[in-house]
Amino acid sequence: MGFQEEIAKRRTFGIISHPDAGKTTLTEKLLLFGGAIQEAGAVKNNKIKKSATSDFMEIERQRGISVATSVLAFIYRDKKINILDTPGHKDFAEDTFRTLTAVDSVIVVIDVAKGVEEQTEKLVEVCRMRNIPMIVFINKLDREGKDAFDLLDEVEQKLGLSVVPMSFPIGMGYDFKGIYNLYEKNVNLFSGDSKKNIEETIAIDDVNDPQLDELVGSEAADTLRENLELVDGVYPAFDLEAYRAGTQQPVFFGSALNNFGVRELLDCFIDIAPAPRDKMAEERLVKSDETKFSGFVFKIHANMDPKHRDRLAFVKIVSGTFERNKPYLHVRNNKKLKFSSPNAFFAEKKEIVDVSYPGDIVGLHDTGNFKIGDTLTEGEVLHYKGIPSFSPEHFRYINNADPMKSKQLGKGIDQLMDEGVAQLFTLEMNGRKVIGTVGALQYEVIQYRLEHEYGAKCSYENFPVHKACWVSVEDEKNPEFLEFKRVKQKFLAKDKQNQLVFLADSMFSLQMTQQKYPSVQLHFTSEFD
Ligand code: G4P
Repeated sequence: MGFQEEIAKRRTFGIISHPDAGKTTLTEKLLLFGGAIQEAGAVKNNKIKKSATSDFMEIERQRGISVATSVLAFIYRDKKINILDTPGHKDFAEDTFRTLTAVDSVIVVIDVAKGVEEQTEKLVEVCRMRNIPMIVFINKLDREGKDAFDLLDEVEQKLGLSVVPMSFPIGMGYDFKGIYNLYEKNVNLFSGDSKKNIEETIAIDDVNDPQLDELVGSEAADTLRENLELVDGVYPAFDLEAYRAGTQQPVFFGSALNNFGVRELLDCFIDIAPAPRDKMAEERLVKSDETKFSGFVFKIHANMDPKHRDRLAFVKIVSGTFERNKPYLHVRNNKKLKFSSPNAFFAEKKEIVDVSYPGDIVGLHDTGNFKIGDTLTEGEVLHYKGIPSFSPEHFRYINNADPMKSKQLGKGIDQLMDEGVAQLFTLEMNGRKVIGTVGALQYEVIQYRLEHEYGAKCSYENFPVHKACWVSVEDEKNPEFLEFKRVKQKFLAKDKQNQLVFLADSMFSLQMTQQKYPSVQLHFTSEFD
């Protein structure tokens, strides 16, 4: 198979949702279709349990398994599908944001009863900003939930999407009879049997066909006809270009647990989802079908074995082929590196591969060379954009609790930050180190890992910060900037990239600062133009 065919064959995507909407269940059903797993429950057991906030050993366990579930690949209808795992737990939101830089499209799962929830809003916003094509799957139709039109409205209002229903439910909850698929023009009747893997659909080209009445009863058939008329009047027709540009989002209804409506979702996904997309580097747009290899690190996974500090760096291939044992340029370090055992992922296994193509993810063994966001190429100097840091939610001073181990502590902190576990800020005034995290849970994880992997001990001290803002200014000699630096000295720090950061202690002080020093620009993410 030629290079172009290999690219055209790949679909790399992520599933995003608020916890409990059914992401894990849907992932599992998709894998069943691809024949990648034999039975339900295989992925499920790998999920972070709900108790994770109070039981961080569970996180350690999860860390071990999640190497395997980071990328789940399978073949379906001759397409190679790579599902990138995105943790739903809000303490790992940053991990998910970074993974979203490596997907070519996403599926958004929404609970029919709960509607649009907080975590979904945040994640969809990130996808919308990047024009990532999205398909919405409204799940748990076997349960009593919101009216379909109300839900579609909610998705449009809260998520800022422009939806096009591709299927429509016939009844719901106790009265759930099935789904009319507008895309395929057929009816799928609900039996509530979760063991059923391949559903039988009944082709009905015209909803006025009396066969529909026989199948679902006249009342339900009439309601469906009215609903479809409304759909026709209110929503535009599906537009492939608009979907791919991220300006229109097709919606499916179903029940992942019952494996209902999943096949339709997958078949449509295969038809419409984009093959590996071109990607913007700081220098230029890189096309996926360029023959020279380039890729970037979007995730780093620490080894579970504390005796071996090697890590697995996950690289998304943007262009060209990645080959085993071929030297590639690590752009940030300006160093050539060769990889003798790159891992590819298939179903829940990883194996050594010789050649990988755009859209694929390779796992590279790393002894500390990589940072999240690093670019690898065949020689060209490229920097892939789009892995910004966001302001952490929590901030604490980190202190060395064992003076004999300060070197180990420094190295441990360094490497954990490279992995993206948290962000480090060094105060300008006194050089003290402050750790910023998305969730309070990470402090426990850091303390535990420093001790078990690096033999270092740390303690924390509260440091009240409302928000971290990255600072930029046109002219560094501008007197206003110099005054800002002098007056706010106590609140200024450098991040790991040596960028200046203002740690505002309250919303009020942030607003006052913005008013007082208008020429000093404060940004809420680390990447800005
Ligand atoms: P998540 O990964 O998005 O967090 O959600 P997950 O798939 O784990 O699903 C959350 C809960 O919702 C699970 O129940 C799951 O069985 C249930 N669920 C998923 N899809 C459907 C559906 O279509 N209909 C119904 N009725 N339930 C669904 P749980 O009780 O939390 O877990 P479990 O103990 O049953 O596995």
